[in-house]
Amino acid sequence: MEKMTEELFLEAKEISKNSYSPYSKFPVGACALFENGKKYLGVNVENVSYGLTLCAERNALSNAVTKGETTGLVAIAIYSPRQKMCVPCGACLQWMAEFRRENKDVTIILEDDSGNIQTHLLSEFLPYNFKFDK
Ligand code: THU
Repeated sequence: MEKMTEELFLEAKEISKNSYSPYSKFPVGACALFENGKKYLGVNVENVSYGLTLCAERNALSNAVTKGETTGLVAIAIYSPRQKMCVPCGACLQWMAEFRRENKDVTIILEDDSGNIQTHLLSEFLPYNFKFDK
């Protein structure tokens, strides 16, 4: 396995410990890699008003935008101790599409059902995404 793939996965795993998920008890961690080599972390943050919950992936991407990244998403690793193949929700897939490099896919790194690290593509989970022509 590629060293970077494992590194991103392990960072997502480590940061999942900071998840604030007292309601679902479903911690999630995410680590996003941009083409300049920078990595951004996120965890899910829940609220007593359940619908206000923020997903780990979108928090990682928000963190990237806050630091000035608006394009160039190369890969994102997602980990939950509760779910082996923790596929991102549809809203997070749409967010990934927003920040990908022009005409390039995004690698999504997940643990498979046997606990091995596997790579997928954004286009596999979201073959089409919402857009509007300017
Ligand atoms: N969650 C994420 O962090 N990412 C996803 O892609 C889907 C779900 C979180 C939200 C909530 O805190 C918990 O997982 C259970 O739904």
